[in-house]
Amino acid sequence: MKSIKAIAPATVANVSCGFDIFGFAVESPSDEVILTLKDKPGVVIKQITGDDGRLPMDATLNTSGVAVNAFLKHLESDAGVEIVLHKKLPLGSGMGSSAASSVAALVAINELMDRPYTREQLLPFAMEAERIASGSAHADNVAPSLLGGFVLIRGYAPLDVTRIPTPADLHCTLVHPHLELRTEDARRVLKSSIPMKDAITQWGNIAGLVAGLMKPDYGLIQRSLHDVVAEPIRSVLIPRFKAIKSIALQSGALGAGISGSGPTIFALSTEYSIADSVGKAIQLQFAELNLKSDVFVSKINMSGAKVV
Ligand code: HSE
Repeated sequence: MKSIKAIAPATVANVSCGFDIFGFAVESPSDEVILTLKDKPGVVIKQITGDDGRLPMDATLNTSGVAVNAFLKHLESDAGVEIVLHKKLPLGSGMGSSAASSVAALVAINELMDRPYTREQLLPFAMEAERIASGSAHADNVAPSLLGGFVLIRGYAPLDVTRIPTPADLHCTLVHPHLELRTEDARRVLKSSIPMKDAITQWGNIAGLVAGLMKPDYGLIQRSLHDVVAEPIRSVLIPRFKAIKSIALQSGALGAGISGSGPTIFALSTEYSIADSVGKAIQLQFAELNLKSDVFVSKINMSGAKVV
């Protein structure tokens, strides 16, 4: 029977100021999905590794299965598909774990069916999986994981997604403390409206970050990596956040903040050696709290998910 293996990378959503509209992909880690066509119609999850048995095996509840079901429904296909999912991304980490699984599954099924859809056309199926995972169909993890690079979701209705060029030397540090935060919970704590003065600050930073990345202008990127909407509320959920952020900046990062809904911290730096020392400095902070953490340093991943 025909089988395809695909991987999809971790992502940093929000990127400080761009709540639900900015995200970029990193080089590692990536989730891996193997899809096999079967004679018997229906989507079945055969095996999941790396999740300590915590993810649902029911294909209507697991993001990889939800995405494949949405794909087949749109294609009006009654194909039989068996899914094997190797989780490499930590759950509830803010690194786009649910997105990586659904995106890898979509790239694999699209290949198995001889590519009926473009990458962009796969997005709504991945967003459907995000809705099941977190109660909201945000695209700021699935879009960069699928397309690669730094992605702007200009609008949701209709979906309007575009890639923003980034300086080649930009490096991302991710530090994942061994804590879990459910996106659904981290969204529930947010306010439903913001004061006009915060809105003005935020859209100045959003436009500044886009301009800074495109020019490129590191000073402008640095001044724009601030969030007055989600970070002030969510940061209380992350131990020592304030100290960690200021240590990242002291170590030379252009900016640092919460990756997606957290608790992973991301930082952006102009070169590998700075990104590496930022990671070590943050890790030390978590270690002082007896919290183990993993550090990932990479450039922005320009290619996104791929068939392997
Ligand atoms: N924009 C989403 C949020 C990303 O912050 O809730 C979740 O990874």
